[in-house]
Amino acid sequence: MGGGIAGPELAVAVTEAGGLGTVGMASPARMIAELGRARERTDGPLAVNLLLPFVRSAHAGAAASADVVVTFWGRPERPSHRTWIHQVGSVDEARQAHAAGADAIIVQGVEAGGHVRGTTPAAELLEQTVAALPRGYPLLLAGGIADAGDVLAALTGGAIAAVCGTRFLMSEESGASAAYKARLMQAEDTVLTELFGLGWPGSHRVIPNSATRRWLRNDTRGPAPVRMFNRVTRSVMSRGPDRVQSWLVEHQVVGIPLFAPIPPTATMPDSVIETSPLYAGETVARIHTIQKAESIVRDLTATAGSG
Ligand SMILES: Cc1cc2nc3c(=O)[nH]c(=O)nc-3n(C[C@H](O)[C@H](O)[C@H](O)COP(=O)(O)O)c2cc1C
Repeated sequence: MGGGIAGPELAVAVTEAGGLGTVGMASPARMIAELGRARERTDGPLAVNLLLPFVRSAHAGAAASADVVVTFWGRPERPSHRTWIHQVGSVDEARQAHAAGADAIIVQGVEAGGHVRGTTPAAELLEQTVAALPRGYPLLLAGGIADAGDVLAALTGGAIAAVCGTRFLMSEESGASAAYKARLMQAEDTVLTELFGLGWPGSHRVIPNSATRRWLRNDTRGPAPVRMFNRVTRSVMSRGPDRVQSWLVEHQVVGIPLFAPIPPTATMPDSVIETSPLYAGETVARIHTIQKAESIVRDLTATAGSG
């Protein structure tokens, strides 16, 4: 989870509990620093996530010093000599990633929080992907996993592991702001929209706020001119330096539908809660606690076993 949600605290806590902690995408310098801080606190394996459309050459340092690199979005391409896992949203994409040499694939169902690549429910997509790829090729399942029963279902369906975003977003160690966590605790539903697509057009699952209530009345994808504007300006808007993006996020207003795909973190003013994407998967309706990541991993593996 990029944008400051999954930093070293969360990654270390997950790894120390027996999972594979992942440092989310950020600027190359920040990722290398965060990975370094995480390394000081655990001897276990650590992953970094790279969103392929935003990768710069300097990200190679981060990719080379992680144990595992998890990529997402766009044409799959090996990012470093490290173990490479690519996240996909369709069988076609899974075939491409396999052909490109990915060591494993994360199959993401449409229930997932954050950016959503495909349109198929997780269990169905897993079944289709198991059938499409060589027997024994490692698949992981993402989307809709919040408790031990979900993990068990993923393993029974042919996955070697489960991937959780929303459950760890709602952990003590995630970088989500207190106001964002409070909204997540109250949330009963999510919407799949393209509204927060400035610099990164695409579908993302969020919980409602003032921006979604104002702009998604007629079409949950968002107003057509806004989607068009986001597509046309993508290459310019996605390359702004971090400080320009931060300025934009803090100056967004509900009445102007230009919203960046950056969720509220603890370092932002509380006012951004109404104009930023409150990413969350469908499981948000079933999760009612903010827990330590270590106890989340313990709960998730309670019946599935920790192997
Ligand atoms: C707050 C949030 C931020 C996310 N950011 C990223 C990201 O930066 N890169 C990425 O590959 N996936 C990202 N995802 C998607 C996850 O990789 C994963 O597919 C998803 O969380 C799984 O579904 P779940 O939310 O139901 O657990 C994000 C998800 C959430 C909830």
